[in-house]
Amino acid sequence: MSNVLEALKWRYATKQFDTEKKLSADQVATLKEALRLSPSSFGLQPWRFVFVENVELRTKLRAAGYDQPQFTDASHLVVLATEKNIDAALIKKYVQSIADAKNIAVENLAGFSGMLNGAIGAKGEEGARDWAARQAYIALGVLLTTAALEGIDAAPMEGFDPKAADEILNLTERGLESRVAVGLGFRSESDQAATAPKIRYNEADMFITL
Ligand SMILES: Cc1cc2nc3c(=O)[nH]c(=O)nc-3n(C[C@H](O)[C@H](O)[C@H](O)COP(=O)(O)O)c2cc1C
Repeated sequence: MSNVLEALKWRYATKQFDTEKKLSADQVATLKEALRLSPSSFGLQPWRFVFVENVELRTKLRAAGYDQPQFTDASHLVVLATEKNIDAALIKKYVQSIADAKNIAVENLAGFSGMLNGAIGAKGEEGARDWAARQAYIALGVLLTTAALEGIDAAPMEGFDPKAADEILNLTERGLESRVAVGLGFRSESDQAATAPKIRYNEADMFITL
C-alpha cells in the first residue's frame, strides 16, 4: 500500500491532544508551506491562514466552539479565513503578482484580468463569498493530508460560532471571515477516537462509473 493510503488510515479527527507534545519549527514550516502551495480556482488564493498562539484567544475560541478541548490543547491552532470582498482590488493584487512572477508588464494581462473580473462579478457578492469558502476547504484538504503524511495529528473543526470567532480574532477589521479551524499536534494516549473504526461507505456505494 502506498504511504499516502497508510497515512490516510492512520489519521483521524483527533479529539484529545497531548498537551505536552509540541510541533517543531520545521513541522510548522512544512504545514505552512503546504497551505501556501494549495491550489485555488483561478489561482486567486482568497484566504488568510491565522495561526493563533495567544492562549487567551484560544480559550475564547474554545468557548465559542462548544468547549471543544482541541481549541486549547493542540500544539497549534490555525483558523482558515477568507476575504469578505472578492473585488477588483483583490484581483488587481493577484494579477500584479502574476506579472511580477513572470516578469512581464501587467498590461499584458489585461485580457485575463477582464475575464477574472467578469467571472467573479457574475457570482454576485454572496456567490463570491461562498466561492471563497470552497477554496478554503481545498486548503483544508491539503493541510489534513500533509499533516497525515508528516505524522502530525489534526482536528478539523467547523463546530464554532464563526461570527464570534471573527470578533475574537479581529478578523472583521481585516476584511476576513473565519471558515474552519484546525488543531494540530499529537494525539493523547487516552484518546479513544484513535482506535475507533473508520466509518466510510464502501466502493459500491461511493463510486459511479459511467
Ligand atoms: C470540515 C470539517 C469540520 C469538522 N468539524 C468538527 C468539529 O467541529 N468537531 C469534531 O469533533 N469533529 C469535526 N470534524 C471531524 C469529522 O467528524 C470527521 O472527520 C469525520 O467523522 C470522519 O472521521 P475521521 O476524520 O476520524 O476519519 C470535522 C471534519 C471536517 C472535514
